[in-house]
Amino acid sequence: MIEIERSRTPAARTRVEMLALPLRSETEPGPEIAALDESTGGRLLAEVRRRCAEPAKRGSTFAWQTHGEMPQELVAVIGLGVPAGAEPTAEDWRRFAGAAVAAARQARVRSLGLSVAACARPAAAAATGAVIEGALLATYRFAGFRSSRSDARLVRCVVAGSPATRAAEEAERRARVLAEATAFARDLVNLPAETVTPAHLAAAAQRVARSARLSVKVLGPRELRRLGMGAILAVGRASRNEPRLIEIVYRPRSGRARRGAGPIVLVGKGITFDSGGLSLKPAASMEIQKRDMAGGAAVLGAMRAIGRLAPPVEVRGYVAAAENMPGGDAYRPGDVLRTCIGKTIEVLNTDAEGRLVLADALGYATRPRRGSADPSCVVDLATLTGAVTTALGRSVAAVLGNDADVVRDVIEAGRVSGEPIWELPLVDEYMAGLDSPIADLRNTGDGTAGTIYGGLFLREFVHRQPWAHLDIAGVAFTDKGSAYVPRGAVGWGVRTLVDLVERRSARA
Ligand code: BES
Ligand code: MN
Ligand code: ZN
Repeated sequence: MIEIERSRTPAARTRVEMLALPLRSETEPGPEIAALDESTGGRLLAEVRRRCAEPAKRGSTFAWQTHGEMPQELVAVIGLGVPAGAEPTAEDWRRFAGAAVAAARQARVRSLGLSVAACARPAAAAATGAVIEGALLATYRFAGFRSSRSDARLVRCVVAGSPATRAAEEAERRARVLAEATAFARDLVNLPAETVTPAHLAAAAQRVARSARLSVKVLGPRELRRLGMGAILAVGRASRNEPRLIEIVYRPRSGRARRGAGPIVLVGKGITFDSGGLSLKPAASMEIQKRDMAGGAAVLGAMRAIGRLAPPVEVRGYVAAAENMPGGDAYRPGDVLRTCIGKTIEVLNTDAEGRLVLADALGYATRPRRGSADPSCVVDLATLTGAVTTALGRSVAAVLGNDADVVRDVIEAGRVSGEPIWELPLVDEYMAGLDSPIADLRNTGDGTAGTIYGGLFLREFVHRQPWAHLDIAGVAFTDKGSAYVPRGAVGWGVRTLVDLVERRSARA
């Protein structure tokens, strides 16, 4: 990761090769740009206006050569895209940082200053955190397998004009924890399925636990059999990489714990490769299926951050890890599986495997446990359906749930984290589509509303607790990249889950 520091020194005096300045509005450029403009005899803004159609538009970037007139070689004026009268949000600052990093890379500079001086004092602490988060997320690179190392020149960022307050220090710490946990999740998704097996995910969870005072339990095939988890066992049966159900638990120190508050339960789909099984996917659809454990990676990333941020409620993370392969031992269309809660499922399509492994994981995670409070809420994340991309595209995840409060909190957590989420309905009438003549449920619907059928199916395995399901098949990966997300794995959900936990524990 690159080096990032906070500095009270005003941007204009910060010693970096490139200085990035946020432009809120063309007519009111703010005191900092106005002062610089004056020191250049009005040439800075004249040039910006000449070269950019809408310089204050979000992401608009103009890099200006100072030719020795300033301590920096280049000044980048970056549009914040804030509507008139509104204050910039955390997302505006993260995108500002992302655009600044892109400009710095393009200009091949080694050091970049990012100014947050345009903010009032209390807001500047939050802006500092968001800029650090955005810069770290934007400079993420998958270490990868390329034989020649790319020459990433940018090595140092300075957040200039940041207040020397406890709030700013806290915001910086949180940003670093979130960016690091997101990078951890991105790495797991970017690595090939040859490497990231269920056992690899379990080992990763064990490393997370050791580094952050969490406890971890890994259920292997033998324990899964003993617990009657016929669904996850069936999905993983034809792979030499045997399934695991991973449990990783954060408990607050007794002095800090909110009394009586039930744990928050997070469950991730961890299909390390989804070939479709005997209902084999066509080649083109299979190309991308190493990413089918992105929900599990988000849960592990979130647990890693939660261990460090130490919220006052218990959080229990689960990853249902299996590899869905064809083979002589594979489960078949027509087979009936018995889950750990006793409900039976007729398999129509072995490619609807995510809901099968989640059925066992949700059933296990939400089972009544003697001596412990019922979960206060349950949230699962899964790259569950191709249909969600048809419905919402590649920028918005779907949420479906049985509890309006949890759904609202999830949507709000996503909004402030820059991970947009839209609710789809759990249409009770469609339950008839999951009817099986020989089992309690079938694992596919009728070919319509695929994401809703997925949600309706999962609901059957939650023990009445408030629950929300996030379908992240459209958002977990990006082929193009965006402001602070390089192409590849997004690490989608890590920051939203952490925000959700903080938001609900503040209210518990
Ligand atoms: N892992 C896939 C969903 C997916 C598709 C994720 C594309 C990422 C990109 C999931 O297991 C799946 O195959 N779903 C089926 C369900 C169907 C058989 C009911 C689908 O969406 O076609
Ligand atoms: Mn599948
Ligand atoms: Zn899948």
